Amino acid sequence: MLEQTIFGIRFKNPIGLSAGFDKDALLTDIMPEVGFGFEEVGSITGEACEGNPRPRLWRLPKSEALVVYYGLKNRGCEEISRRLRGKKFRFPVGINIAKTNCARTAETEAGIADYCKAYTAFAGIGDYYTINISCPNAFGGEPFSEKEGLEKLLSGLETVPADKPVFLKISPDMSEREFNDVLDVVARHAISGFVCTNLTKKREGNDKIVDTNVPEKGGISGKVVEDLSNKFIADVYKKTRGRYVIIGVGGVFTAEDAYKKIRVGASLIELITGMIFKGPQAVSEINQGLVTLLHRDGFKNISEAIGADNH
Ligand SMILES: Cc1cc2nc3c(=O)[nH]c(=O)nc-3n(C[C@H](O)[C@H](O)[C@H](O)COP(=O)(O)O)c2cc1C
Repeated sequence: MLEQTIFGIRFKNPIGLSAGFDKDALLTDIMPEVGFGFEEVGSITGEACEGNPRPRLWRLPKSEALVVYYGLKNRGCEEISRRLRGKKFRFPVGINIAKTNCARTAETEAGIADYCKAYTAFAGIGDYYTINISCPNAFGGEPFSEKEGLEKLLSGLETVPADKPVFLKISPDMSEREFNDVLDVVARHAISGFVCTNLTKKREGNDKIVDTNVPEKGGISGKVVEDLSNKFIADVYKKTRGRYVIIGVGGVFTAEDAYKKIRVGASLIELITGMIFKGPQAVSEINQGLVTLLHRDGFKNISEAIGADNH
């Protein structure tokens, strides 16, 4: 009931490990054993990066969330791609690519060249790309989230022949206008889907933040981003009438949480924070719970439930 083939890629179940847990792609043999149906490695950047100085990760126990200020720590596209080339993966692997977190890549052309370097290095490796334009913790902000920057980035990436589907990972902090701009630009390019969403940077007005002494810097995950993520999944689905495949991520702790994202339009689900708070068995509990929920609602396969609330 949980199996799907999307863009010719077979997903045994819809629950994937989100980008940022396996930054250097060291865990691809272990994660299928944990119960995941796929994983996204990275974010991987053109150059190796130490990330931001510590501390850079905090728990918000009452809010069931993490504050993340890693700053794209990873060993860089050359080392990681060399290690993965020719490797047979046991499940689908997404290659999440971002721009090296440093002053040199802050300029637009240098930033695009950096994305292209990592993109090229991973030709022939993995099953799909995710272009991460929404890291809240990188030098120079998110220049490719706005219209002109995104247009240039996607045109630049198209000069490199893509051998797999490309997803765009978006921020939950976009305004309606910024979101419409992103949809307009994406419609002109060969993008197959969206990853909704990355961490939220906004503190004010988010009543899901119940801890005190929340660090000022960093993006926030888990329950703090869940409703925002669900809103973007529903909006992409409704505005584009199922044209894009949506990977829903943000605050999935239980089967009910995953099912909600599927019913508003997500075909696949990713998580990190739910596993950190509840333990690795959460992944198989979510998959088993999904089967029960699909049975309850009379669906034969998960694909029938995608977007059921937004038809
Ligand atoms: C420790 C940590 C590191 C992260 N690093 C990345 C990253 O490098 N690239 C990226 O696209 N997202 C990154 N994220 C965001 C997650 O992939 C995900 O979008 C977000 O945490 C919401 O999902 P969750 O609530 O299940 O954790 C990171 C999240 C966490 C918790």
